[in-house]
Amino acid sequence: MTTLDLFASLEPSPEPEPAQRAAELRQQLQHHGHLYYVLDAPDIPDVEYDRLFRELQALEAAHPALLTADSPTQRVGGSVQEAFAPVRHAVPMLSIRTETDTESSGAQAFDARMRRELALTETDPPVQYVAELKFDGLAMSLRYEAGVLVQAATRGDGETGEDVTANVRTIGQIPLRLPTDLAAGVPAVLEVRGEVYMRRDDFEALNERQRQRIASGMKGEKTFVNPRNAAAGAVRQLDSGIAADRPLSFFAYGVGEVGPAQPSWQSHHGVLMQLKAWGFPVAAQTSLVEGAQGLVAFHQRMAAERDALPYDIDGVVYKVNALALQQRLGFVTREPRWAVAHKYPAQEEMTTVQAIDVQVGRTGKLTPVAKLAPVFVGGVTVTNATLHNELEARRKDVRVGDTVIVRRAGDVIPEVVSVVLDRRPAEAAQFTMLTHCPVCGSLAEREEGEADHRCTGGLFCKAQRKQAVWHYAHRRAVEIEDLGDKLIEQLVDGGMVHTLADIYTLTFPQLLALPRMAEKSANNVLASIQKSKNTTLPRFVFGLGIRHVGEATAKELARHFGQLDAIMQASEDALLQVPDVGPTVARSIRVFFDQAHHREVVQALRDAGVHWTEGDALAPIDMPLAGLTVVLTGTLQSMGRDEAKDKLEALGAKVAGSVSNKTSYVVAGAEAGSKLEKAQALGVPVLDDAGLNLLLQGNKP
Ligand code: IVH
Repeated sequence: MTTLDLFASLEPSPEPEPAQRAAELRQQLQHHGHLYYVLDAPDIPDVEYDRLFRELQALEAAHPALLTADSPTQRVGGSVQEAFAPVRHAVPMLSIRTETDTESSGAQAFDARMRRELALTETDPPVQYVAELKFDGLAMSLRYEAGVLVQAATRGDGETGEDVTANVRTIGQIPLRLPTDLAAGVPAVLEVRGEVYMRRDDFEALNERQRQRIASGMKGEKTFVNPRNAAAGAVRQLDSGIAADRPLSFFAYGVGEVGPAQPSWQSHHGVLMQLKAWGFPVAAQTSLVEGAQGLVAFHQRMAAERDALPYDIDGVVYKVNALALQQRLGFVTREPRWAVAHKYPAQEEMTTVQAIDVQVGRTGKLTPVAKLAPVFVGGVTVTNATLHNELEARRKDVRVGDTVIVRRAGDVIPEVVSVVLDRRPAEAAQFTMLTHCPVCGSLAEREEGEADHRCTGGLFCKAQRKQAVWHYAHRRAVEIEDLGDKLIEQLVDGGMVHTLADIYTLTFPQLLALPRMAEKSANNVLASIQKSKNTTLPRFVFGLGIRHVGEATAKELARHFGQLDAIMQASEDALLQVPDVGPTVARSIRVFFDQAHHREVVQALRDAGVHWTEGDALAPIDMPLAGLTVVLTGTLQSMGRDEAKDKLEALGAKVAGSVSNKTSYVVAGAEAGSKLEKAQALGVPVLDDAGLNLLLQGNKP
C-alpha cells in the first residue's frame, strides 16, 4: 500500500465527485501552502504536498471546467509577507520541470527530448550538459550594482519576491562587494541566482540551542523539522539579529538580470566558473558531462555521495550547457525547456502507526517499536521504527492510529520524525510502558537516572535467553556457525537450552527430533558447536554478553588481565585501570560476576570443554598502528575482511564500520561501493590490497 492509498483511505468516500475532490484538494493545498510558505512550519512531507498538487493538476487537466483562477496550480507558490517590501524580479525566477523516477530513464528521456527539439540526428555528437546538485534550500536572487550587494530577494511567486537583504547580508559566504577593477569585468548590474541553505551540522547545533532555550523556559522558541525549514525561517526573520544567529550557506547556480553591456558568455559552465572567480560558492560536484550517459553516471555518482554531503540535496539538475542552444530551446510557461530536475527517492514519507510493540533485548531492555503500515522511503520498505524508550516515545508523543512522518536517510535506521497532529484520531491514547515483561511476565523496572525499562527476569526470561545464546554464538564471539535464529528459538522454546552451557549438552537425537531438521544439518550443528570450544579469551568474554562490554572492551580486558579468573575477581578499582573502562562499565562487570548464577555458567562452559590460551597480563606496548582508524570495504584478495580486522586490531588499529572524517584509511577491495565513494568525497586515503599488507607490516603508507 502506498501512502496515497492510505491517505485516500482516510477520506470519507472512496471516489468523491471531481468537483468536490478538486475543492477539497484546493482547500488542503491552501492550508499546507500557508504552513509551508508563510509560517515555515509544514506538517506533511514535501512528497505528500507534491502528490496533492499533482492530483489537482491531473483533475483540472481532465475537467478544464473545474479550473479556477485562484487554484494553487495557477501560481508557482509562495506569498509576499507584508512585513517585507515586495521586489519585482526584472528576470522572472523560474522553476524546473521535475522527474521523480529513480532509474536512469529520466536522464535518457531528457537527452532524447533535447536532441529531438534541437533536430539533431544520430550522427550529431552528444549534447553537452552541466550536471548540478539540486540543493534543498530556498531560491535567492542577489542584486549587485557597481559590484556592491544592494538587494537580496526571495523567489516569492516567481514574478515578485520579498526583500530580505538585511538577513542575507548575515550570510558569510555571500560577497558584499565584488572586485571592481576593469580586468575583473563585473557588469554594472549583476543578479546572481542561487540557493540559500543550512548545513546539516549547523542545523543540528541550532536545534540543540533551541532545545536548551525551550528547556530554560524561553517563550516562543521551537525546534525545526529539517534544514530547509530552518533556513527558510531564518531568511524570513524580521529581526536580522536572529537571522545572524542561524548559520546559513549559499551556492550560486545561475544569473538573472545582467547589463547593460552583455558579457560574452558562451556556456552555462562558463557563467558558473565566472561566478566562482568573482567569489561565489559553486558546488565542487558541478560537472560538465556529455549525452545521456554522462547524465546517468552523474545521477548515480551523486546518489552514492548524497549521504556523505554536509547538506541535503533532493536530486540533481541537468542543464544544456551552450547558451545559444538554451535560447533556441526557450521556455514553456514558467519552466525552461533546457533544464530538468531529477529527484532521488524521498527520505521522508507519511504512514500510519498500527501498533506500538514492546521488544525485549539481550540485556532485558524493553524497547517500544512503532509498527507501521508499510511505506517505501529512502529506497526500502519500512514497517518498523524504534521509539527507543518510554521518554522518547512520550517526547514525540507517538500514538497508535497516528499519521506520522518517517525518515530514512542512507543506512541510518528509520525513525519517526513527527506526528501529523491534525490527523490524530480522537480516541488515540498516549503510550505508556508496560509494567511487566511481555515475554516472561516479570516486573519491568526503570533504574534511577536511566531512560530504559528493563525486564527483571534475567535468564529466566526466554527473550533474554534467546538473545544471550544468539550473542554467544555470534561470528565475532565464540562463533557457532550453524546455530541460527530459528534454531535458537526452537531450542529455548523447547526447553532444551536454559543456560549457555546447555548448548554443549545437545545430542544428535535431540536435534533430529526438531521439525525440519535433517541428519546432515544436525551433524553440522554439532560440528560447529564442537568447533566453538576452541576459542580465545576476548571472544569468550565478549560472548558472555555482559552489559556495556562490547568487542573492543572485551579485548582490552583480556589484554590487561590475561586470564579469565583475574577478570572475574577484579575489583571495580582494578577494572578502572583498563583503557576505555569507566565507572559504568566497571560496575556492570562486577555486578555480572557477583551473581552466583553467572559464575556457575562460566564454570559449566569450562567443564564442557570451552577453552582458550591464557596469557600473562600484558604490559601496554607501543603498538605500531595505535591511533589509526581503518574502514574495510569490498572483497579483499589476500584475506577475508574478518581476518584483516583481527590483524589490524592486533597491531593497535581501530577498525570502524563507517567512513567519517576521523577515518585514517579506507581499504577497498573488489566491488567496493558507497564507503569508497564516501572516502573519495571526504578525501580519506584509500588503500588497495597491497597497501593493506604494507599497513600490516607496520608501515603507514
Ligand atoms: S536552476 C532556470 N539549479 O529548485 C531554472 N535550481 O524549481 C532556475 N534549485 O526553487 C533554477 N538547486 O531554488 C537551479 N542547481 C540548481 C538548483 C535549483 C536547487 C531549486 C531552486 C528552485 C527550484 C527550481
